[in-house]
Amino acid sequence: MANESLGLPAEVSAYLRRVGVREHPLLQRLRDETRALPEHDMQIGPEQGAFMAMLVRLMGVRRYIEVGTFTGYSSLSVALALPKDGRITCFDVSDEWTRIARRYWSEAGVADKIELRLGPGIAGLDGLLAEGAAGTIDFAFVDADKGSYPAYHERVIELLRPGGLAAYDNVLWGGAVADPSDTDHDTESIRTLNELIASDTRVDLSMIPIGDGLTLARKR
Ligand SMILES: C[S@@+](CC[C@H](N)C(=O)[O-])C[C@H]1O[C@@H](n2cnc3c(N)ncnc32)[C@H](O)[C@@H]1O
Repeated sequence: MANESLGLPAEVSAYLRRVGVREHPLLQRLRDETRALPEHDMQIGPEQGAFMAMLVRLMGVRRYIEVGTFTGYSSLSVALALPKDGRITCFDVSDEWTRIARRYWSEAGVADKIELRLGPGIAGLDGLLAEGAAGTIDFAFVDADKGSYPAYHERVIELLRPGGLAAYDNVLWGGAVADPSDTDHDTESIRTLNELIASDTRVDLSMIPIGDGLTLARKR
């Protein structure tokens, strides 16, 4: 089974997904379609999609942004949980993968809530800031190029409203962050982000071992 939460035995993961997640039929179909791609492991797991949808409902999120959309699983999970007037802005560099996402958004009837901006996430977030979106975002999910994570953090903090939530994916990086012999650029960048947030007094912090590790940082 792909995208299992780190270290969870396969049979426990299967059990969790059977009784702990009510996956929308379209999300199931998107997972099946994405499985055919060599990059399918980039997709978040169903328990993480359900968790993000739960956060959206608990927080009453109306304005969600996402860096790293791929075939659309996280954005569709959130879109299905948003209120009628909820709005999403997605950033991704891939037209090919997000074309799949757009097809599912349409089929789910949520396409009118979602704006996709193709291009690098840093420029995308800078664009939002230039449009005056600072302090307006309820929930930001960062799941793109790991080398830019620290740079994303500064922009995301500016964009969030007080009480808004940033979520960073892959913060445990398959466990590599805890292996001092791993000095790969992406690993180092995720370590930098983790240390940065650990001592960032602008946010409340909870890193949770769902998927490949998810850091929740709530702007104070
Ligand atoms: C891990 S996948 C996202 C998975 C997605 N959140 C999901 O639930 O299926 C990472 C995505 O980031 C995109 N990406 C890579 N570099 C990027 C960049 N510099 N700016 C924006 N997106 C980027 C890739 O095209 C890819 O679709």
